[in-house]
Amino acid sequence: MRVIKVLVALLATVVFFVLLAQSDADYMGFMKSAVASKGKVAKGIAAKDGPGTAADAKAMEASFKQIEDYWSKKGAADAVGFAKQARTGSADIAKAAAAGDFDAANAAMATVGGACGGCHMAHRAKGADGFQIK
Ligand code: HEC
Repeated sequence: MRVIKVLVALLATVVFFVLLAQSDADYMGFMKSAVASKGKVAKGIAAKDGPGTAADAKAMEASFKQIEDYWSKKGAADAVGFAKQARTGSADIAKAAAAGDFDAANAAMATVGGACGGCHMAHRAKGADGFQIK
């Protein structure tokens, strides 16, 4: 009986760490797709491509929604705020681009850009192999 209890406890610990690593790996995926979308949005605005920019901005909005959910599960209110700023900014870009208003899209892009640095200062750490969550 005792051996089984110990095994169960060990297993639970392993599962816990696997899940933890899993959600951090997911997070990096969200961050990478947000960054990729941001590059496409910038290109789309420069090319004044309304529909293309709107689609890419919607994809960026979806990534920041996942990032926002991640931080709200962690209970980090400041990070949730930055992610929300980036998410609503992305939604504003999509709306402006769809209406062909590229000045407004650019202004909303600056709002999104402002959220990047704020969150990185507070929650991104430089690790041995790239960036880490803190
Ligand atoms: C809510 C917090 C938050 C916001 C907002 C945010 N980031 Fe991040 N970012 C992080 C964290 C935490 C990491 C470290 C973990 C990782 O690498 O995914 C990171 C990592 C990165 C990386 C390194 C990815 C890699 O290769 O490991 C890049 C590039 C990046 N962010 C760009 C951006 C840009 C551009 C924006 C704004 C459009 C942005 N981030 C907005 C939290 C945020």
